[in-house]
Amino acid sequence: MDALEAIFTRRSTRRMKPELPSKDLIEKVIEAGRAAPSGSNSQSTRLLVITRKDVLERLAALVQDAFAGMEDSEDLYVSLRHSISAAKKGGYVFHYGAPVLIVTANRKGYGNAMADSACALENMMIAANALDLGSCWINQLHWLDEDPSVRAFLETLGLAKDETVTGGLILGFAEGGAPSRTQLPRTGNPVTWIEDT
Ligand SMILES: Cc1cc2nc3c(=O)[nH]c(=O)nc-3n(C[C@H](O)[C@H](O)[C@H](O)COP(=O)(O)O)c2cc1C
Repeated sequence: MDALEAIFTRRSTRRMKPELPSKDLIEKVIEAGRAAPSGSNSQSTRLLVITRKDVLERLAALVQDAFAGMEDSEDLYVSLRHSISAAKKGGYVFHYGAPVLIVTANRKGYGNAMADSACALENMMIAANALDLGSCWINQLHWLDEDPSVRAFLETLGLAKDETVTGGLILGFAEGGAPSRTQLPRTGNPVTWIEDT
């Protein structure tokens, strides 16, 4: 698959097989993330690559508790409201039980923290598709960056005190075999050309 095909056929995969992809495959995806550009070449995006089932389960339980304890409000972002409502029902598994979770973080106060991390995350999603792996951006740990219990646990895994969680990604083999590659119609993302006619 060439680069453009990998970009245009990338879709989010949420239903994954429980089996762990080989370390070699995961490392290829990670290296694609690390190869992303960064502001002033800062290369300060941290990647926590979690493949331990007990750690994923503990994190899912902490996320469940954190959202279950939040007040819902119509002013909140729709996806955040979805997490709160799912957690209040109980048994919310934010990472869909995927076998790999990659958490991205960057220096607090660094103006390109989110932009750099997004470049790394997109590189990893495209690489995953090229390698026949499913992937999906997972934002819950970013929203819970300030949650004391979630943060304390992430710090035991290697998150530094001066880092902020910018996002995350799940990886794995899609339940149906190859990841879905049906392109979504593009009705948004408007383009304005300023050119000589
Ligand atoms: C910044 C960002 C945050 C996202 N957060 C989540 C998330 O927390 N959970 C999830 O299931 N999907 C999440 N997604 C995936 C989007 O829902 C998905 O990209 C979008 O619906 C388009 O579908 P596609 O990825 O299949 O093209 C996120 C995507 C982005 C770019």
